[in-house]
Amino acid sequence: MKTAALFFASVLGGAHAAALSQPESFEPAGFNATQELERLGVQVKDLPASSLSTRSLEQYACPAACLSLSAIFGRDSVVTENDDAYDQFTGAFWSEIQADVDPQCIFKPSKAEDVSVVVLLSRLTQCPFAVKSGGHAAFAGASNIEGGITVTFEKMQDVTVSCDKQKVKIQPGNTWGQVYDKLAKDEITVTGGRVGKVGTGGLTLGGGISYFSNKYGWACDNVLTYEVVTAAGFIINVTEKSNPSLYWALRGGGNNFGIVTAFTFRAIPLPGGLMWGGTKTYLENDFSDLTEAFVQTIANTPDDPNAGTWIAWLSQGGMKLAATEFWYATPEGADAAIWEPYENLTAIADSTKERTHHEYAHAQDESNPYGFREVYYGLTVKAGSEVAAKARDVFFEEQPKLADVEGANPVLIFQGITTEQIKHMSARGGNPLGINLADGPLYLIHVACWWSNAEDDERVYSWISNLLTRIESEASALGKQNDYIYMNYGSLYENVIANYGPDNVDKLNSIAKFYDPTAVFQKLQPGHFKLDRAPVPDDRFWSGVRS
Ligand SMILES: Cc1cc2nc3c(=O)[nH]c(=O)nc-3n(C[C@H](O)[C@H](O)[C@H](O)COP(=O)(O)OP(=O)(O)OC[C@H]3O[C@@H](n4cnc5c(N)ncnc54)[C@H](O)[C@@H]3O)c2cc1C
Ligand SMILES: *[C@@H]1O[C@H](CO)[C@@H](O)[C@H](O)[C@H]1NC(C)=O
Ligand SMILES: *[C@@H]1O[C@H](CO)[C@@H](O)[C@H](O)[C@H]1NC(C)=O
Ligand SMILES: *[C@@H]1O[C@H](CO)[C@@H](O)[C@H](O)[C@H]1NC(C)=O
Repeated sequence: MKTAALFFASVLGGAHAAALSQPESFEPAGFNATQELERLGVQVKDLPASSLSTRSLEQYACPAACLSLSAIFGRDSVVTENDDAYDQFTGAFWSEIQADVDPQCIFKPSKAEDVSVVVLLSRLTQCPFAVKSGGHAAFAGASNIEGGITVTFEKMQDVTVSCDKQKVKIQPGNTWGQVYDKLAKDEITVTGGRVGKVGTGGLTLGGGISYFSNKYGWACDNVLTYEVVTAAGFIINVTEKSNPSLYWALRGGGNNFGIVTAFTFRAIPLPGGLMWGGTKTYLENDFSDLTEAFVQTIANTPDDPNAGTWIAWLSQGGMKLAATEFWYATPEGADAAIWEPYENLTAIADSTKERTHHEYAHAQDESNPYGFREVYYGLTVKAGSEVAAKARDVFFEEQPKLADVEGANPVLIFQGITTEQIKHMSARGGNPLGINLADGPLYLIHVACWWSNAEDDERVYSWISNLLTRIESEASALGKQNDYIYMNYGSLYENVIANYGPDNVDKLNSIAKFYDPTAVFQKLQPGHFKLDRAPVPDDRFWSGVRS
């Protein structure tokens, strides 16, 4: 883009000059949002936003920003409260808690340049914004903003396969189900989410665990290029070579560094589009052996990285159940030797079968319905039989205490961060998550819960908070405590980034300072996990930060 090119020419003067004197900031001194907008062809003086900077009347900032967006892009790209499309949009978030939020307007960019304009208009007016990809973050403000501009990528749904089928460029308006559908004919796929309707944007920026992660790593560790709109509205292709520090930060740093307008993934081969997987459900008499089988499978992953599993512990009508997911990266999953620890267990239901990746992802949508209040809230422990058994038992001990909350359906989920996954994290310069091979394998343990009424929100959060505190203290007593908190399963009260470790946090802050010197993505995009805080800091709830 022109502005970025001019800037590089003057500030960096090519690679040699850059080596001689590092600029202090990616943004030119005297940066002026009005001038940047004008360079993009926006006639700022004709816009409602133009009179604002001098009057600084806060309550007009967002109306002016939204009217300006309408003036520039037309009503087809800007939805406001009186439009039918407004309620359709807010109603399409996975969690009702996000659906309850009412933005001043909804903006639908068609291309990266449009995203540059909205960032610059936000800077000019100081109207805050949020960005939505698949809308699966569960808490208020994560991808929808009260009174501000909510940016949605529904007009940016390209999936482009390179000629050699080695790379796939994905715009963030896609859900994973859409991506897998589009890739099936080429017999390739990518390390994306396991549930069809989850978005490509949020999942990838927070980490991203795939059915193929034991074989190829997490989503964030399979992105070769991020096309990013920076705080200055510059559009840059971020690779390990071009912008090594920003590339590192984007591999798990969330929405703190820019708005990603395309992810170029490494493609993975998937002959016939086929894999294997499904759910087997077990009863309480098998719980002890099942837990041990899970422990074995996670430990044995290096023997067969095609395989993966999670356990969802739950209770239905007073009956304790374990819904266990098994999957395999090829159709030959049913008879794999790695499942031997399960040989004497009796599943009361079994949906495992050979299937296409996209059919499998779509099938998972059914167990993750829309229309409820929702929370994901989790922690990480080091692997081991005792800690797994304890976490399970503590959950079933606490579970009845939530029984009188209308519609409450808490589930405790165990997953492995296997040593195979961790090894892939160090490819291409590594990532900022702070997960070390020396600690691995790890278990991600999180509560997923839905319920019906807003009055019960705090009851649910307190109940989970208490449960996690108990699991954490059992883990500590067993020497199995681990600091990591997975952003994509983080609750509104968890200070996720603080747990990436002090060195990574320092580095992330200095990278943000360089690329975003006025902290646009901290202040004007306040939702989700920020560099220095939980989405909603509140001492009454488990934050994951140890004193
Ligand atoms: C039913 C269900 C299944 C799930 N399955 C998996 C799974 O298999 N593996 C896994 O790892 N996780 C999984 N998750 C967790 C999931 O990764 C997170 O909920 C993630 O935030 C969802 O991404 P999204 O794009 O749908 O969400 P959104 O709510 O749209 O976005 C989440 C955050 O990312 C930001 N963001 C989104 N796109 C961009 C962008 N292009 N540029 C900058 N910021 C952006 C948003 O602003 C927001 O703050 C699942 C969650 C649910 C609810
Ligand atoms: C930014 O540029 C515009 C147009 O050139 C000018 O009117 C305005 O005063 C500038 N703002 C600042 C803070 O320099
Ligand atoms: C980013 O890369 C793509 C293709 O690889 C190219 O078409 C585009 O112009 C690049 N964008 C910038 C801003 O350099
Ligand atoms: C299953 O049962 C058989 C027969 O009792 C036994 O030999 C085998 O070790 C058991 N397998 C496991 C994983 O416990």
